[in-house]
Amino acid sequence: MFDDGFDSGMLLSSTKSELDIEENVLRPKTMEEYVGQDKVKENLAVYIAAAKARGEALDHVLLYGPPGLGKTTLAHIIANTMGTQIKVTSGPAIERSGDLAAILTNLNEGDVLFIDEIHRLNRAVEEILYSAMEDYALDIIVGKGPSARNIRFSLKRFTLVGATTRAGMLSSPLRDRFGILCRLDMYTPDELKRIVDRSAHTLGIAVEEDGAYEIARRSRGTPRIANRLLKRVRDFSAVMGSAAISVSDAKKALARMEIDELGLDETDRNLLRALIEKFNGGPAGLDTLAATINEDTNTIEDVYEPYLLQLGFIARTPRGRVCLKGGYDHMGCRMPESLRSQMSVFDSDDAN
Ligand SMILES: Nc1ncnc2c1ncn2[C@@H]1O[C@H](COP(=O)(O)OP(=O)(O)OP(=O)(O)O)[C@@H](O)[C@H]1O
Ligand SMILES: [Mg+2]
Repeated sequence: MFDDGFDSGMLLSSTKSELDIEENVLRPKTMEEYVGQDKVKENLAVYIAAAKARGEALDHVLLYGPPGLGKTTLAHIIANTMGTQIKVTSGPAIERSGDLAAILTNLNEGDVLFIDEIHRLNRAVEEILYSAMEDYALDIIVGKGPSARNIRFSLKRFTLVGATTRAGMLSSPLRDRFGILCRLDMYTPDELKRIVDRSAHTLGIAVEEDGAYEIARRSRGTPRIANRLLKRVRDFSAVMGSAAISVSDAKKALARMEIDELGLDETDRNLLRALIEKFNGGPAGLDTLAATINEDTNTIEDVYEPYLLQLGFIARTPRGRVCLKGGYDHMGCRMPESLRSQMSVFDSDDAN
């Protein structure tokens, strides 16, 4: 009877717009409500206070880190704290340089322009951004051939907030033009518990202390996943007739979703199993690995790998992905002696 709606794949594969609607309700609006990321918050608070005191726009900010850690949320909070408007767009949405020019010329003094997935801007569009970010100017070429002229328009002083899951894919001229770089880290179970409690309160869901902690612990360090697990567990516990989500409700529901003790799902386990059984622990190239488990390479890189790396279950080497001792142990397999000595160098890494 619980077959519908407990497909763990759905947790990671909903479309962007579905996510946007449900996420807006749960999005913290202020720095105080935004849980964790203390270093990032403290630094931003200083830069924002200083910019405000000078009566200037905040310097451009690049937010990077795995999906669902709060980049979009933080972009809105930055605009909110500066007391300015935010315009939201994304790399793939800006197709031509004219589109970006139109957006830029419509910005007011101090406005935040949020470009999500900024690593996916095309080259011509990206080049328009260079002078816009550096000199608050727009260089446009009018006419063709010998009569072509460069016309420079000035722009209002705005703040570009860029977000990306792939800081490494940003070109260096673009990356260098951001004055403030913020890397978001995965959250601790205690921080995620605070997020689960806050979301439960907002959504009117009753959850017991250890029920909330069980959800937090299995959320892969990611607030978005914590919120989604909370909703799924709520459905399960409602059908069970519980008044509040207990730890045993949470355990049963998570087992039903095939989410294990550490928050790994079927795809994570397939990936580890493939590395162990098909590639003898690796190294296996990303493309080969993706084809073997029938997943998209970007999804593996963005969604699955960060947590497996963080757990120290896998490592990236120049020759491909390898399974480490923790990965073998978790899958109940014994790591071959020959690999053990080769891989021991990675076990002491923090694997970031
Ligand atoms: N620090 C936080 N405190 C409380 N809730 C948070 C926090 N960070 C994120 N969330 C919640 O997690 C959800 C996802 O966050 P957000 O959309 O900002 O992630 P993102 O980093 O932009 O992800 P993506 O890379 O997929 O765009 C939001 O609904 C928000 O409610
Ligand atoms: Mg986002």
